[in-house]
Amino acid sequence: MKNDIQSIKSEAVAQILEAKNISELEDIRISYLGKSGKIASFTKNIKNLPPEEKKQVGVIINETKNTLLKLIAERKNALSTSTREWFDPTVPGRKPPVGHLHIVTQAIKQISEIFENIGFVRVRYPEVEWDWFAFEALNMPQDHPARDDWETFIVDQKPNDKLGRVVLTPHTSSGEVREMFRVKTPPIRMINISKCYRRQSDVSHVPMFHQFEGLVIDKNISIANLKGTLDYFVKNFFGEDRKIRLRPYNFCFTEPSFEVDISCAVCGGRGCKLCKEGWLELGGAGMTHPNVLKNGGLDPKKYTGFAFGWGVERAFMMKNDINIPDIRILYSTDLNYLKQF
Ligand code: PHE
Repeated sequence: MKNDIQSIKSEAVAQILEAKNISELEDIRISYLGKSGKIASFTKNIKNLPPEEKKQVGVIINETKNTLLKLIAERKNALSTSTREWFDPTVPGRKPPVGHLHIVTQAIKQISEIFENIGFVRVRYPEVEWDWFAFEALNMPQDHPARDDWETFIVDQKPNDKLGRVVLTPHTSSGEVREMFRVKTPPIRMINISKCYRRQSDVSHVPMFHQFEGLVIDKNISIANLKGTLDYFVKNFFGEDRKIRLRPYNFCFTEPSFEVDISCAVCGGRGCKLCKEGWLELGGAGMTHPNVLKNGGLDPKKYTGFAFGWGVERAFMMKNDINIPDIRILYSTDLNYLKQF
C-alpha cells in the first residue's frame, strides 16, 4: 500500500505541474484530494491493515495530502501570475469614438417636440418642388418681383403645363398648400421642417439650410393666436425671459405680414453691442392670404389662419449659450468643432 500511495503521489505531482489553467488544476485537486478521490480511497482502506502498519500509513497519507495541497497552491499562483503577464485588466482599453446627433438634427428634434406638445403635426414636404407650390400658389405669379428675394435654384427640366418649372424649394412655405390638400378640412396645425436651397453663401447663409414652417388654419383664427403661439415657442426654445415683438412687413402669401424679433439674451432688450437696439430678427410670419386659402381649396370666408417660417440654423445660433461665428462651420464636417455640442 505504501508503494501504491507513492506512485499515486508521483502521478498527481506530474499532473499538477502540467496543469494548463486554474480550472484544470481544480479538476486534478478533486480527482486526488476530493471526498471520493484517489487519496480518500487509501484512507478508507486503513482499517483493513495490520495494527502496526495503520499508524505509519496514516502518516504517509497525511504527508502526501499536505505536499499535494502545497504544490497545487504554488501552481495556482504561478498560473495566475503568468496570465497576468499577458493580460493586465487595469490597462484602459481603446474606446471606439462615440458620436452624437448633429446639432441641426438636435435642433429639429427640439423644435418638433415643442410644437407637437401643443397639437401640431410634423410633416416634411419635397425639397425638389414645382414652381406652383413654391410661388404661384403663394400669390406670387410668374414675373412677380417679390420672387427675387428667394434666389431660387431652377432645375433644368421640362416645365409642367400647370405646375411650371422644377425648383429646389427655397422655403418651407411650399408645404402650406400641400398641407391644405392633404388635410382638406381644417383644423390644420402643421409644422413642416425641411431642407431649403438658395443661391447664397456667407457668414450667415449657406446654400442648403433648414426651415421650420408653422401653419394653423381653422375658424376664427386671429393675430392673437399667432402671437400666443410664437410667444410659447420662443419661451420654450430660447428661455422664459425672452420676449417677442412683431414688426410690419410684406409677404405676398400673408396679410398682414410681420417680421418677428426676439429680445436679445445678452442685454435683455435694453440694447447692446450685439443687437444694437435690444432685438434680434428671427423671421417672417403673418395671417394667411385669402388667395392662398383658395389655392388650397379652402373657403376664406369660412376659415382664417396664420403661418410663420424661420431658419432652423439661424434660430439655433440665436440661443443665448451658443456662439457660432460662421454658419458654414455647421456643414464643414469639422468634428473638433461639432463635438463640443
Ligand atoms: N417663407 C418665408 C421666408 O422664407 C417666411 C414666412 C413663412 C413668412 C410664413 C410668412 C409666413 O422668408
